[in-house]
Amino acid sequence: MTELNTTQSGIAWQKTVVSEHAQSDSVREELTPDDFWRPVAHKFVPPKKGESAPDDTVQMLAELITPEETVLDVGAGGGRIAIPLAEYSSHITAVEPSEGMREQLVGTAEAWEVQNLSVVASTWEEAQVEPHDLVVCAHVVYTVTAIESFIRKLSLSARKSVALISFARPATAIYLPLWSRVHGEKRIELPTLPQIESLLSEMGIEYRETLLEAWISCPFKNREQAFIECQARLFVSPDSEKSKVLNDLLGESLIEVEGGFRLKWAEPDRPRIISWDV
Ligand SMILES: C[S@@+](CC[C@H](N)C(=O)[O-])C[C@H]1O[C@@H](n2cnc3c(N)ncnc32)[C@H](O)[C@@H]1O
Repeated sequence: MTELNTTQSGIAWQKTVVSEHAQSDSVREELTPDDFWRPVAHKFVPPKKGESAPDDTVQMLAELITPEETVLDVGAGGGRIAIPLAEYSSHITAVEPSEGMREQLVGTAEAWEVQNLSVVASTWEEAQVEPHDLVVCAHVVYTVTAIESFIRKLSLSARKSVALISFARPATAIYLPLWSRVHGEKRIELPTLPQIESLLSEMGIEYRETLLEAWISCPFKNREQAFIECQARLFVSPDSEKSKVLNDLLGESLIEVEGGFRLKWAEPDRPRIISWDV
């Protein structure tokens, strides 16, 4: 394996991400769609303009800037953070490689009548952007292999500070019980908060942490949607034997909640802002 990272934590991180991807490939029945994020992009948008925020993420990030300052949102998704944060800054640049996510981002920015947001269609590794005052990167690093250069580029692109947002447990943790029952093996978990903490320490970055309010992803709209999303997350093709196993499992695992259905073991997580000054 080519070592892209040099610290012990960085090397261990890379090993975990590579093994997780290899495990996905080994069970994969479906060809990977061109745009992994398109089917779930609608989940990464802010609420309608004027509706109250679902948690305190935007409010806490807004405290890190003044209205004259600029923000760079790396892996902005559908604009869940960038769009409401635009109101608190002079300009926001959203870097986002997924076309499905960008479509949600642009459509929602229009609906919110946000004028001070620009979009860069690129991965962070390839993006060419000028430094901004605050660099935000929420729930992106988990699948990044060359994590040290990714983090260094965040720091180099910030004039004032960097704010990484991470869950304590991987966002995909809700699929773990399904994974072992469908594939008959334990799913490798991607790096998350503890690994970020040790990596930053080894990289000599002095960070602080702010605990955010509990967050839980939107429910599946209906049982069919749950089946489709879980098939995609478990790389199971619709007509296979494993798909039948998954369908039976979902029959006993989905519970009805406000707005749709959830897996009965899904619990809210309290993400953190991990920030540092440059
Ligand atoms: C879980 S979503 C989070 C979206 C948004 N930051 C939020 O918190 O709602 C992860 C996003 O990171 C983007 N992403 C993944 N790898 C990336 C990379 N190497 N560079 C930039 N963005 C990336 C994906 O396209 C996706 O939109």
